[in-house]
Amino acid sequence: MRPTFSDIGQRLAGPSGIQELMDDCGAALTTHPDMRMLGGGQPAAIPEVQQLWRDRMHAMLDDGSIDRTLLNYDPPGGNPLFRETFAAFLNRECGWNVTRENIAVMPSSQSAFFLLFNLLAGETGTTRRRILFPLLPEYIGYANQALSPGQFTACLPRIVETAPHEIKYHVDFDQLRITPDIAAMCVSCPTNPTGNVLTQNEFDSLHALADAHGIPLIIDNAYGHPFPGVIHNGFQPKWQPGMIFSISMSKVGLPGVRTAMIVADPHIVKALSNMNAIVSLANGNLGQALLMPLLKDDTLVRFGASIIRPFYRERSDFAKSVLAAALGDRVPWALHAQEGAFFLWLWVNGLPISAAELYRRLKERKVLVIPGHYFAFGLEQDWRHPHECLRLTYSQPEHIVREGLEIIADEIIRSF
Ligand SMILES: Cc1ncc(COP(=O)(O)O)c(C=O)c1O
Repeated sequence: MRPTFSDIGQRLAGPSGIQELMDDCGAALTTHPDMRMLGGGQPAAIPEVQQLWRDRMHAMLDDGSIDRTLLNYDPPGGNPLFRETFAAFLNRECGWNVTRENIAVMPSSQSAFFLLFNLLAGETGTTRRRILFPLLPEYIGYANQALSPGQFTACLPRIVETAPHEIKYHVDFDQLRITPDIAAMCVSCPTNPTGNVLTQNEFDSLHALADAHGIPLIIDNAYGHPFPGVIHNGFQPKWQPGMIFSISMSKVGLPGVRTAMIVADPHIVKALSNMNAIVSLANGNLGQALLMPLLKDDTLVRFGASIIRPFYRERSDFAKSVLAAALGDRVPWALHAQEGAFFLWLWVNGLPISAAELYRRLKERKVLVIPGHYFAFGLEQDWRHPHECLRLTYSQPEHIVREGLEIIADEIIRSF
């Protein structure tokens, strides 16, 4: 017997880009260890960072705090002591004027965005309110999170050539329209998949637009400020009242603890906590307990600046040089400027096959990538550009990245 699924059930339970991605990546890392994993968003195994988490776990075992941590349910908005510590950290380290009333702990930023998008947008009385993504391409994980159809809309970027074989996406303010149905704007910074970092001007202009229309500007800092801090040009977006910032523990090497923090006005924090009680009862405690002392003594931000960011910078340069050597001038290609995050975003202008077909051919050759079209959503018109793009991760060991990139280049050249 097969029960009938509700409309919402079908939206969430049907196939989606993020589910295919997570299934493929999960299989690559477990049942197909011979697959070269240039697909996922997991952080690299950085020895110093892994040692940091091991040391913290030993300390929690030694001082007995592990028992308290595992035994108790926290309030749904997070451990009050952790919220206090995190607010103090943000004041001290980032200069944000926040208290614990501005902090909601959530069971991952993925679930925080699901709650936020459906809190702010969707059917509202007789109208439908929408989330605007002002700068496509944007994070694949948002694409299927709306509970009602038409809840997302998006704006195409201005594509600027910044150097030979290099482009940068800019917000196209000439095309960006904040109509009365727009409930909030959302940007990941650095952007997954492109590594784009908003300029200070773009950030200020988006903030001014959001303010003028009385809507929140949501910034997803999963890869950025204040940790893991993988932003190469030093940009540090400043939270201000009315904004909603998301900060995840995942990219400092802890995707397994499934914990993120939302920084927002108290009524948004309260709403998220209430929703979290319904959906999850409480958050996992482990991430908060692991992080707390490292926020107090600033170890975590120091690790970001001195270990994590340089690691990814070096990897990014390495991956770029391998790919550039393999592609040469044989096909028209460009990478997005490497401004942050963990990815290369490759555009092959005039690619004769779709990125989806390229993905399939690469998978047969045991290389996993993410085709670009998954990162274009909320659009009413066709957009060819992302069908010519791939997102490539360089967080796996160097020999895997090199082999993978050389096979990708070979397959692209063959397709012309
Ligand atoms: C931009 C962005 N936001 C949010 C997430 C979700 O992170 P998590 O749910 O692990 O906190 C990811 C994961 O890769 C991401 O790339």
